[in-house]
Amino acid sequence: MLIRYKKNFEKIAMGLLSFMPNEKDVKTLQAAIKQYETQDNWNLLLWKEDEDIIGLIGVEVEPEDTVTIQHLTVNPSFRYQGIGRKMCEELANMYSTKKIQSSDVIAPFLDKCRESEDK
Ligand SMILES: CC(C)(COP(=O)(O)OP(=O)(O)OC[C@H]1O[C@@H](n2cnc3c(N)ncnc32)[C@H](O)[C@@H]1OP(=O)(O)O)[C@@H](O)C(=O)NCCC(=O)NCCS
Repeated sequence: MLIRYKKNFEKIAMGLLSFMPNEKDVKTLQAAIKQYETQDNWNLLLWKEDEDIIGLIGVEVEPEDTVTIQHLTVNPSFRYQGIGRKMCEELANMYSTKKIQSSDVIAPFLDKCRESEDK
């Protein structure tokens, strides 16, 4: 299930964020976390399964009716088990009145999830 980020999840969240292709150095990671901590319209959600936090999805809620996924990662040990897709589905339920879009790097994965939903 998706849970909201809290300060005591900072280390695990930074570890997960570091799997994003453009978030490799510590300064970039700290800036990303700070953005989620300080900006009300940036929401960071973590995927918890049993007692483990194994995925992350971060969104920017735009003033209009749009939510943009800015970060999406799953711990490598838990990939290819449908967690990335489940996070997107739960996010869509959470923001059911809004249009979900994503940054360019995430778009191919989101498209793939939508294609298999349509089948
Ligand atoms: C992308 C990511 C979140 C997918 O998580 P996951 O839990 O393994 O995803 P799922 O199990 O729900 O789906 C797996 C499917 O997505 C595909 N997939 C993985 N990364 C993809 C990408 N960047 N673009 C398109 N499809 C992708 C896999 O090939 C697999 O396809 P298959 O079912 O046909 O074999 C994970 O691979 C990850 O954390 N990658 C590193 C972070 C990253 O690059 N994020 C940006 C892209 S979202």
